[in-house]
Amino acid sequence: MTAKILDGNALSAKLRESLRHRAAELAAQGFQPGLAVILVGENPASQVYVRNKIKACEAVGVHSEKYEFPADTPPEKVLNKIAALNADPKIHGILVQLPLPPHFDEEEVLEAVSAEKDVDGFHAENVGLLAQGNPRFISCTPYGVMEMLSAEGISLRGKEAVVVGRSNIVGKPMTLLLIGASATVTVCHSQTKDLAFHTRRADLLVAAVGKPKMITGDMIKPGAVVIDVGINRQADGKLCGDVDFDSAKEVASLITPVPGGVGPMTITMLLANTIESADRAAGK
Ligand code: GUN
Repeated sequence: MTAKILDGNALSAKLRESLRHRAAELAAQGFQPGLAVILVGENPASQVYVRNKIKACEAVGVHSEKYEFPADTPPEKVLNKIAALNADPKIHGILVQLPLPPHFDEEEVLEAVSAEKDVDGFHAENVGLLAQGNPRFISCTPYGVMEMLSAEGISLRGKEAVVVGRSNIVGKPMTLLLIGASATVTVCHSQTKDLAFHTRRADLLVAAVGKPKMITGDMIKPGAVVIDVGINRQADGKLCGDVDFDSAKEVASLITPVPGGVGPMTITMLLANTIESADRAAGK
């Protein structure tokens, strides 16, 4: 079997077209959606992500503001900027790009963002709402994965789903969403004893660990749906996922590529969350 490849760029383009219409409608009513992005330090990957987020905003008509701080900035300065953005009616979404430099208390910064503007879904209140099955904002990457599955008409009810990775950004919210979709969910992580035992049982396998090509074809159940959240840079400068694409595509029924799979969907759902937030500000 050779898997069907899920094209995140194509689905993103379709979704962004409809987001562009929604943004224009809001703008006409005086509520142009606005996103503020805060970047602290000079992490090259973060710089690329932030640039792509700003570019995507421009393409769909979302107003964007970028605030860059050097790595040695006192946390107080960033917290003051967040407080100003919380109070700014032009801004409906605030995103603090992670990771932050080591002298920052990440939790303190994420909690400083107003829960009503937390388009990343990282604020404790929003994580709690998601856990209760009543989300305000869903974290962009897991949200993008759910959209890809839904666009393919994949039902998760009663399916065995295995999530590899337990991060706050992907693994945990992904797990909550899959439970909400009535899958039976197993979460694997660095201390899991026999990873392949679990992954081979998965009808849906989500890899979100940040280890290049660690999931190989022999670890995948024939016909499984494989979602690769990893974005790793190889020695030759090329990107690869957490899944060994070449061996996995011979076993899976559906698979996301890297690049061009989940990555573009993450940014698309950030735009969707920002527009949703502007909708709420407009009283919709
Ligand atoms: N760093 C890696 N992924 C993300 C993300 O989705 N949001 C933010 N803010 N930082 C990240």
